[in-house]
Amino acid sequence: MTEMAESPIDTSEDGPIGTWPGPAARTEPEAPAASGAPTGPGTPGTLEARAISAWFGDRKVLDRVSLTMPGGRVTALIGPSGCGKSTFLRILNRMHELVTSAALAGEVLLDGSDIYDPAIRLTEARARIGMVFQKPNPFPGMSIYDNVTAGLKLTGTRRNRSEQDDIVESCLTRAGLWNEVSDRLKQPGGALSGGQQQRLCIARSLAVRPEVLLMDEPCSALDPTSTNRIEETIRELASEVTIVIVTHNMQQASRVSDRCAFFLASAGTPGRIVEHGPTEAMFSRPRDQRTSDYVNGRFG
Ligand SMILES: Nc1ncnc2c1ncn2[C@@H]1O[C@H](COP(=O)(O)OP(=O)(O)OP(=O)(O)O)[C@@H](O)[C@H]1O
Ligand SMILES: [Mg+2]
Repeated sequence: MTEMAESPIDTSEDGPIGTWPGPAARTEPEAPAASGAPTGPGTPGTLEARAISAWFGDRKVLDRVSLTMPGGRVTALIGPSGCGKSTFLRILNRMHELVTSAALAGEVLLDGSDIYDPAIRLTEARARIGMVFQKPNPFPGMSIYDNVTAGLKLTGTRRNRSEQDDIVESCLTRAGLWNEVSDRLKQPGGALSGGQQQRLCIARSLAVRPEVLLMDEPCSALDPTSTNRIEETIRELASEVTIVIVTHNMQQASRVSDRCAFFLASAGTPGRIVEHGPTEAMFSRPRDQRTSDYVNGRFG
């Protein structure tokens, strides 16, 4: 477990945690915005964030965010720039703790188990909860084949050659890239187009058989055709992997997601969830005026 070098210590009622991630200290009262969240672990691959608060130094950027991301479904996180979507996503696979000044309160449960439990190794948590970033980040000089199997090596999973061949074919197929690269697996990953590189990164994530795939604006650097292809991939994967996607594109959120959560950090306050629920309802009959304004492009 990574120990935080400069975790803030604050004894005020609304303040953070002591040292990171001291479980006893990582609780805050439930925020009102959390009401209505489905509870309980539900279907396999269900990720549940409970009262997540986050700080960078002594600046609080998320305030008691609770959200259930059901197994085998796509949950979209939407909201204006700076409201804490990426921070929330990084907390879901323990990347927030890599930032020296960062601190956290709350719990993240995968099928009821706390991913911050000291008994769960960081590599195990990351293998179960994969991440795809805004900018495709394949290993550029490494072959397409080796890019897909790279995660297996990192997680210490040994496979013989024919097992690896099967994994490469199946992951590239599920990521929607196999037909485009099956005859050039030895070529470098960096030689692919941006959209192909992003699908290669998805294939790389899938190779370690994650239960959850987190995606932070995975199409923002891509052209419409590649975006379309990634959206298809997301829909195809959704039944087998829980997906949480951050997007600024409202059409994309409504096309790919089953559920949606609207984050907002108003007037310098920490980010909170204003409203969440089935995507169709969030877009057609939002309960909160701010959600309505945001999904209809009136701000943000
Ligand atoms: N490494 C960091 N150090 C300090 N502050 C940070 C760091 N990363 C993010 N922040 C701050 O935390 C807040 C939330 O940032 P975050 O990146 O989570 O927002 P976001 O909703 O993903 O925004 P965007 O839509 O622009 O990607 C912002 O105020 C940001 O400045
Ligand atoms: Mg972001």
